[in-house]
Amino acid sequence: MLKMSALRLLWVPVLFCLTHAWLCHGACVEVDSDTEAVLGNGFKLGCISCKMRGEVPASATVDWWFMSKGESDFTHIYSYADMTGYVMDDRFVERLDWNGSKKTVDVQDGSIYILNVTYNDTGTYRCYFDRTLTFPNYEFHTNATKFITINVVGKATRGTASILSEVMMYVSIIGLQFWLLVEMIYCYRKISAAGEEALRESEAEYLAITSESKDNCAGVAVAE
Ligand SMILES: *[C@@H]1O[C@H](CO)[C@@H](O)[C@H](O)[C@H]1NC(C)=O
Ligand SMILES: *[C@@H]1O[C@H](CO)[C@@H](O)[C@H](O)[C@H]1NC(C)=O
Ligand SMILES: *[C@@H]1O[C@H](CO)[C@@H](O)[C@H](O)[C@H]1NC(C)=O
Repeated sequence: MLKMSALRLLWVPVLFCLTHAWLCHGACVEVDSDTEAVLGNGFKLGCISCKMRGEVPASATVDWWFMSKGESDFTHIYSYADMTGYVMDDRFVERLDWNGSKKTVDVQDGSIYILNVTYNDTGTYRCYFDRTLTFPNYEFHTNATKFITINVVGKATRGTASILSEVMMYVSIIGLQFWLLVEMIYCYRKISAAGEEALRESEAEYLAITSESKDNCAGVAVAE
C-alpha cells in the first residue's frame, strides 16, 4: 500500500516536467550581477538576457565594454560569437573567461569571469546582447544592454542582510531572556506575597478562633 503511493508520488515530477517542459529546462531568470569584487580573487560579471519567445530558435552574440574609474569612455574588452570568446583589450589578456551559456549559439547567459581582480578593474561594465530570432519566413533582431558598476575591495565585506539577521538574532535572544527574568521576578513576588497572605490569614484565623472560643467560653461561663 505504502509502496504503491510512493511509486505514484514518483510520477509527479515526471508529469510536471511533461506539462511544464520550460521549467525543467531551467527557466531563464534575469538575476542582477554581484557588484563587489575582492582583490586577487576571481569575479563573475553576471549578465543574463532572457529570450522572450522561448519556442523560437535564436542565436545571440555578446559584447562587453569597460569604463574604468576616471575614464569617460567605454572600451570594447570582450566579444563572444559562435561559441568562441575573444579578449579585445590588453588589460584583460588571459584574465577573462566565458562564464555564460555553454555549447549553444542560443545564448541567454552572457556572463564573463575576471581572474585575479586588481584595483584597476574598478569601474562600469556594459554588457550588450545582439539576438536574432529565426521565424519561418523572416528574422527578427533584438538587443539588450546592461550596466554593472563594480567596486574592488581588499577583503570581502558582509552583506547588510546577514549583519541585520545576526543583530535580530541577538536582540531576540536578549529580549527572551529579559522576558523570562521579568516573569520569574513577577512569579517569585506573587508566590511570596501569597505565602505572606496565607500566613497573615492563618494568624487572623487563629486569633479569630481564639477570641471566638474565648467568647464562647465567656458565654458558657455567663450561661453557667
Ligand atoms: C567561470 O569561470 C571560472 C574560471 O574559468 C571557472 O572556475 C568557473 O567554474 C566558471 N563558472 C561557470 C558557472 O561557468
Ligand atoms: C594576481 O595578481 C597579483 C598582482 O598583480 C600577483 O601578485 C599574483 O601573483 C596574481 N595571482 C594569480 C593567481 O595570478
Ligand atoms: C593599474 O593601472 C596603472 C596605471 O595604468 C598601472 O601602472 C598599474 O600597473 C596597473 N596595476 C595592475 C595591477 O594592473
